Amino acid sequence: DKTIIKDKLNRPLRDLRISITDRCNFRCQYCMPADQFGSDFVFLPKNALLSYEEIERLAKVFVSLGVEKIRLTGGEPLLRKDLPILVNNLSNIAGLSDIGLTTNGVLLPKLADNLKKAGLKRVNISLDSLNDELFGKINGRGIGTQPVFDGIQAAKQAGLGVKINMVVKKGLNDTEIIPMAEYCKSHGLELRFIEYMDVGSTNGWKMDDVVTKKQIFEMLIEHFELEPVDPHYFGEVAKLYHYKDTNVNVGFITSVSESFCSSCTRARLSANGQIFTCLFNGNGHDIRNFMRNGATDEELSKRITDIWNGRVDRYSDERTEETSKHRKKIEMSYIGG
Ligand code: GTP
Ligand code: 5AD
Ligand code: SF4
Ligand code: SF4
Repeated sequence: DKTIIKDKLNRPLRDLRISITDRCNFRCQYCMPADQFGSDFVFLPKNALLSYEEIERLAKVFVSLGVEKIRLTGGEPLLRKDLPILVNNLSNIAGLSDIGLTTNGVLLPKLADNLKKAGLKRVNISLDSLNDELFGKINGRGIGTQPVFDGIQAAKQAGLGVKINMVVKKGLNDTEIIPMAEYCKSHGLELRFIEYMDVGSTNGWKMDDVVTKKQIFEMLIEHFELEPVDPHYFGEVAKLYHYKDTNVNVGFITSVSESFCSSCTRARLSANGQIFTCLFNGNGHDIRNFMRNGATDEELSKRITDIWNGRVDRYSDERTEETSKHRKKIEMSYIGG
């Protein structure tokens, strides 16, 4: 008994991305550059964060309004204490078909087994280079690739589905496109190339820094034979191919060159309980204080419905170098990708 709600562009609400912390143990250049997120940076205090009980309560309301998929993000979600408890409680919500998590992977050796037991199905792990020096430079912490490989291994061993995310930035890691493809293909891992996006206002994004899907694709087909794969469901973010004669996929997330707003069914809940209707719309809608002030489930449901019904976002359809400069945006570490 789900209610299907639609926004102004007739898009249903299907996915919920929940950021559970704004902190991260990495300082990726394109996300939380170290010079902007230094030792004096003020992160959210504990009482500003939604508690696990609050997250569960909101998740149930979202599911009753059509949400089928939940993805936990951050910051780095594995930094949040007792995460398997949250996953376990979310996985018991009737009507939810998928729970995933997006992570840098380094804490997976500690957590993968318990997360799998708690009901987590899949992890998307970020890895932007196979080269230790370059990877350390990109993640801003000098962390090499081995801790991420260990995390990938732990996730696989625990029985979690694993995909690899690689953000490609021109002049930084475009030389890693082929090595990453080779590595992931030979290890049976689905790799998604992500076009560098203008999220937030700290990463100094320029259109020139983007390597497009078309450019990456042209590099790949010099080395591999690729065949397109049909989308698994309406609104799938990645465009997928598979390596001929294998069952290994490779994908592209083309927010910049081929936007996918017309099928965007995602709402985002920030770590401090604001609802965002687009990755690039900095106007969040408070739900935390409303809830803490005693709102009933019906009232929460009504508020979420009103927010979704009013949604007109299609930022990537409209993006230019100019709109990127003038738009009020929100940091990805806070809103969760
Ligand atoms: P699954 O397809 O469920 O495995 O996950 P996903 O690809 O939706 O999630 P993930 O967290 O791995 O995100 C991969 C990349 O896609 C990140 O760079 C996200 O910021 C980006 N992304 C996800 N959803 C959207 C969206 O609605 N709009 C834009 N522009 N980018 C998105
Ligand atoms: N552009 C594209 N993807 C980004 N991510 C973080 N910042 C950016 C950006 N500026 C990716 C991370 C992770 C996912 C949640 O979002 O690499 O895989
Ligand atoms: Fe942390 Fe992920 Fe952002 Fe890198 S991309 S700084 S790992 S949240
Ligand atoms: Fe959805 Fe906004 Fe991304 Fe478009 S830019 S796909 S509306 S989150």
